[in-house]
Amino acid sequence: MWVLATDIDNTLTGQETALRELAAQLDALQRQELLFLILATGRRLEQVLSGFAGEGLPRPKAIISQVGTEIYLPPFAPEMAPLAAWKERLLRSFSRRRALRFLEGIEGLEMQPEMYNTALKVSVFLHRAPDPEAAAALVRERVAASDADDQYRVVWSSGKHLDIIPAQAGKGNAIQFLLEHKSLDAQRLVVAGDSGNDLSMFRVAPRGIVVANAQPELQRLRDEAHEGLFFATAECAAGVAQGLRHFGILRETSSARES
Ligand code: GLC
Ligand code: MG
Repeated sequence: MWVLATDIDNTLTGQETALRELAAQLDALQRQELLFLILATGRRLEQVLSGFAGEGLPRPKAIISQVGTEIYLPPFAPEMAPLAAWKERLLRSFSRRRALRFLEGIEGLEMQPEMYNTALKVSVFLHRAPDPEAAAALVRERVAASDADDQYRVVWSSGKHLDIIPAQAGKGNAIQFLLEHKSLDAQRLVVAGDSGNDLSMFRVAPRGIVVANAQPELQRLRDEAHEGLFFATAECAAGVAQGLRHFGILRETSSARES
């Protein structure tokens, strides 16, 4: 059984027809029990669930939400509680108050809406900082120079979003937890993404798909090219489909859309 862990925004979404085509193919693979699909996203759970009907997102076997700080297993419901084992593990070494201190005095910083700020995730916007990249680098340096550098992880995405989460969290770590929890084969893991919060997935997977529209921080993976890394020439869902064909997970079809 293959395991596909894919990001949602700008990896699956962006081209409606391509997404519908891919979703149908993923559904078919799941029905044949050839695939275990994980959606790994920065979104909140209910924003994933509403996307099934609203955006044509494929229905997964597990959802990793809020940048790998929450994990959900079916049956999914909007108000359900995240997997307690994961949450409790992360809460042990994370203090929101301490995380906020790394952000003190950063010019132009804005808090993200409250719903994206949880006990396990401090999320801010930095695009209004005079130099967003430098501001993000400063937060990273502060964490690295502190005595808690092994407890806090800084995730920087799309020149705009900065998250501070537990070092043990993140999409990659959450995927590894799920592989063990569900006794899935780590050698059959494929990941797909477009931005900084997806990087940790590429660190734990033997195969990865970078969509053509990926952000610079993910394009940088080109410097460490290996045969398991596929840089799609197609964008979003079409790029994911291209990668899945490259790895032999989806069959080539005449209707395959490459652009
Ligand atoms: C999603 C989340 C946001 C986070 C961003 C990058 O957009 O909603 O809170 O900062 O992903 O990880
Ligand atoms: Mg994305």
